[in-house]
Amino acid sequence: MEKYVIKGGKALEGEVTIAGAKNAALGILAAAVLTDEECIIENVPYVDDTKVLLRAIENIGAKVKYIDTHTVSICGGTIHNDEDLCVDDEYIRKIRASYYLLGALLGKFNYAQVALPGGCDIGLRPIDQHIKGFKALGATVDIENGGKIIAKAENLIGNHVYLDVVTVGATINIMMAAVLAEGKTTIENAAKEPHIVDVANFLNSMGANIKGAGTDVIRIRGVQKLKGTEYSIIPDQIEAGTFMTMAVATKGNILIKNVIPKHLEAITSKLNEIGARVIEYDDSVRVMADGRMKSTQIKTLPYPGFPTDMQPQMATTLALSQGTSVITESIFENRFRYVNELARMGAKIKVEGNSAVITGVDGYKGANLVAPDLRAGAALVIAGLAAEGFSTVEDIKYILRGYEDFDGKIRALGGDIEVVDSDKELQKFKLRVG
Ligand code: UD1
Repeated sequence: MEKYVIKGGKALEGEVTIAGAKNAALGILAAAVLTDEECIIENVPYVDDTKVLLRAIENIGAKVKYIDTHTVSICGGTIHNDEDLCVDDEYIRKIRASYYLLGALLGKFNYAQVALPGGCDIGLRPIDQHIKGFKALGATVDIENGGKIIAKAENLIGNHVYLDVVTVGATINIMMAAVLAEGKTTIENAAKEPHIVDVANFLNSMGANIKGAGTDVIRIRGVQKLKGTEYSIIPDQIEAGTFMTMAVATKGNILIKNVIPKHLEAITSKLNEIGARVIEYDDSVRVMADGRMKSTQIKTLPYPGFPTDMQPQMATTLALSQGTSVITESIFENRFRYVNELARMGAKIKVEGNSAVITGVDGYKGANLVAPDLRAGAALVIAGLAAEGFSTVEDIKYILRGYEDFDGKIRALGGDIEVVDSDKELQKFKLRVG
């Protein structure tokens, strides 16, 4: 089984270029099937989640072509609308974003059948708000034995939808179902994440009429038809944040390129607060850290609050800082599973309900670790890079879902990390890096 082997202790220095936003890409790739014409989408991150979703889109009959590693052409005109059309294969159940095909196919055909979504085990992750939205538009939604969701409608008709919780997934899904519906839809208490705005901009470039994305009230006026488009996805806020915390945890100096600094404000402000230096340029940020950082308090919140997807990476950094920090996780209830792994490296973290109380230690010691989910996996890699000695991180399949060439980018910054598949390869790495 492939794993990362890491020799820690080096300050990471140099430049890294951030890929397109995974979570925006997943919405946009699904939304592309809403038109029969060709959509060309640039800056698609080449990660397992987007590859799996594209395979699912191809499996239902769309034409999907990689023009180059990051540019994809999708033509939804060859999808056959019949009751056998079901988005399901052994992989699609593992990713969260499969549910976006529910909104997109329902919007296009008034009929969708999709296997229940999987994704990282970070909490219950219900989809009741998605269903509430589809029903408000006039659809009936049934969950079949075997875990399939079937949504259908005679006609989708615009309506007022108030979301009981701020949810990224439901906001995007309802937007996709509503763009071709008759009349006006209003989504209140909508999520405001940059990727919501990106999906809305993409849909508008196809001819949709969506206003207010990025605020908590989104207004959609249904149109008759959508057309093909060319569109470039925004940079990944979380990949950028991961390299920002990596710079701080390893006391390095990294120029992080192809970012939108505004999207990183919550992370930048916390890193500045603990004593790191973040310099913002037009489309890059430099992050530098020297010596031990200070403690802080963080609560994860929907955008523009501190992102839950950055919580494990930040905890890993704070566990090396002076004093006691507290992180409160308010979005997902099962997002502290990396704490036991960090404890084996010497971290002192106590989880009490949805808070982690972190007492900073001087340093980590290398250990054999297992990634519990995508972002926690990235956090453990950061810990390994900051630690004294060798670490291994197993179950890298989670990390590959969301980070493009993670180990290659780290090596380019001077980090000693490699993917190994056997004990022999592991020993070879140890001999090579000493
Ligand atoms: C998306 C991201 C994920 C990120 C999360 C929060 C994708 C593929 N995944 O996940 O990386 O961590 O946003 O920024 O884009 N909820 C309900 N009912 C629903 C839907 C959600 O109660 O119908 C709750 C969830 O349990 C959670 C909160 O709302 O507590 C936010 O979830 P949501 O924003 O929907 O997250 P995802 O779309 O699953």
